[in-house]
Amino acid sequence: MTDEDRTTPETDVTPTAAPAEEPEFKPGPELDIPRTIWWEDGKVRMIDQSRLPLVGDILECETYTGVCWAIKGMAVRGAPALGVAAALGIAVWVENESDSYDTHDAFFAGLEDVAQEIRETRPTAVNLMWGTERLRRLAHSIEGAPLEQIKARLVQEALSMIEQDEERNRWIGKNGAELLEPGSKILTHCNAGSLATAYFGTALGVIFAAHAEGKIEHVWVDETRPVMQGARLTTWELMTQGVPCALITDSMAGWIMSRGGVDAVIVGADHIAANGDVANKIGTYSLAVLAHEHGIPFYVAAPTSTIDLLISDGEEIPIETRSEDEVTGVTWSSTLESPSPEAQRAFDALTEKGSYELDISRGHKLHISRKGAGFQLDGWARIAPLNVPVVNPAFDITPAKYITAIITERGVARPDFETSLGLLSMGSGGINEVTIE
Ligand code: MRU
Repeated sequence: MTDEDRTTPETDVTPTAAPAEEPEFKPGPELDIPRTIWWEDGKVRMIDQSRLPLVGDILECETYTGVCWAIKGMAVRGAPALGVAAALGIAVWVENESDSYDTHDAFFAGLEDVAQEIRETRPTAVNLMWGTERLRRLAHSIEGAPLEQIKARLVQEALSMIEQDEERNRWIGKNGAELLEPGSKILTHCNAGSLATAYFGTALGVIFAAHAEGKIEHVWVDETRPVMQGARLTTWELMTQGVPCALITDSMAGWIMSRGGVDAVIVGADHIAANGDVANKIGTYSLAVLAHEHGIPFYVAAPTSTIDLLISDGEEIPIETRSEDEVTGVTWSSTLESPSPEAQRAFDALTEKGSYELDISRGHKLHISRKGAGFQLDGWARIAPLNVPVVNPAFDITPAKYITAIITERGVARPDFETSLGLLSMGSGGINEVTIE
């Protein structure tokens, strides 16, 4: 055969371009919910959850202290979202504030301080520790490289965690949906939805996935006193996705269970000990006891980054206590978009210097600030007597004995949790693997 004979036959289907890559399989439906947190122009941006759903502001953080402030004020919240926020907090420091740390020693000392400050913003969510430790570990693993390279890798790593979190949550959703029967009536607490994660959600991720499979008849949403994450965020997410739901006060759950209204309880987690004890939003423990009494399965949905094999049981989990104001009053936010000319003049005068804090009798407060052509109003209305003693633990511990299963992205752990969680966490990159001594 000569070279002339070697002409391409007409039937040749040899591709001229590289073969198209298989699209990555991302289980679960597309959501119509805004993203929780992202990186734009070297800054961290997030939807301000403290005012949702009635006011949808975007916050922009150019410094790590801005990110710490957003975490403490719960503009960003929910364990997996906090893990990502922690990493992005370090990234924003690296990007905008680390120039003066121009030797390796100075940079690594600065990194320690920033990581420490971020970790201390909210003590219960282990993901905060996981997010900061993951970046610290990476920095130490390449400490011999030029500083600019270390910095670039840290930012890149933080950004990759956004996508990874969504992917994990989608697998949690898939694994959890398999546990539910068609026609399921679910009860959930707090917000373990898309907003509590980089995207998609954990407990709500299971509900979204099961709803897409036609398995969800109804979801009961605990309002979740005192910060109302259920009333404000979970209802909003479910309604956005068209999932049938109803809002109840926390104290109604037992009654509804006793009438046969709940087939399964699904909640998220902020910190899971090696024995399966779970720290989650205050009120979770009472629900688990109620579910046990009524023979209802109690599921916890969480990524393996929330599992902490370094602590043996829930007693070792620090519980965050928050401001008394969360219990003695309620907050509200609104905007005044087209004020009458008289109101415009009055509010203009009040906000001449930027914003105005109005102290009303009985301790109510109103904060007025400018917003575009209108005004932003943030109120706090006192509902309890002045000086009443208050306790406000933000989380409680649910003993493993009340938990039917823990749903993770790598599979479903059942009792004995010490063994099943240990196996599932192996090689997961969870907190037990990222801590540097
Ligand atoms: O105080 P929050 O709103 O950060 O508490 C959130 C919760 O307790 C969630 O249930 C938990 O973080 C799981 S979120 C996927």
